[in-house]
Amino acid sequence: MILGIASAIRQSQLRANAADGVSTGASVADRDGHLHVPDDYRTTYQLLGSWAIAAEDGRASKEFHVVYASPGVIDAYRRDKRFPDGAVLIKEVFKASTSEMTTGTVSRADALKGWFVMVKDTANSHPDSALWGDGWGWSWFDASDRSKTTTTDYKAECLACHVPARASDWVYVDGYPPLKH
Ligand code: HEC
Repeated sequence: MILGIASAIRQSQLRANAADGVSTGASVADRDGHLHVPDDYRTTYQLLGSWAIAAEDGRASKEFHVVYASPGVIDAYRRDKRFPDGAVLIKEVFKASTSEMTTGTVSRADALKGWFVMVKDTANSHPDSALWGDGWGWSWFDASDRSKTTTTDYKAECLACHVPARASDWVYVDGYPPLKH
């Protein structure tokens, strides 16, 4: 019975978010807070932006990062200047390959290494999990397994590197043109 009520409340929250046009994290997190990479994000999510990571020497890039947001997140962010609850951000990490093309020396996405996933969670839904906190759920997935994370502790494995973006809710928003007007 209690479970029934909890599930009814959860359902109504999902409907409320759906009414806002914001996709909830429900599709990437199970009840226990385990995340996975959704199958269809390349066709249903919206592109936020991309990053080229320079090689230590030479003119090539060594990696490409391509970042997507779940449906409705861009509109909500432009309106409210914050990420809505349930917002999912996915960062693809590619090995880059470089060649001479008619436009110049060009690096492009090659083999996929894996994905970083963040899910906005204002309610602190999983206080006992080492993969949730500071307003988000956090996980990395190797390309070989999009349903099981290798991350065990977001504070050790994610947060320190995101400190420079702390003022913008831990997200490197400067790299994402659609979030700006
Ligand atoms: C070595 C430092 C480093 C580590 C470790 C790291 N990140 Fe990031 N992350 C960054 C930087 C810098 C960016 C933006 C530029 C880029 O992609 O190179 C970024 C971008 C992202 C993005 C795209 C949205 C945004 O914040 O701009 C996601 C999602 C993300 N990281 C999730 C994670 C998760 C989850 C973990 C831990 C499992 C993690 N990151 C660990 C440095 C790091």
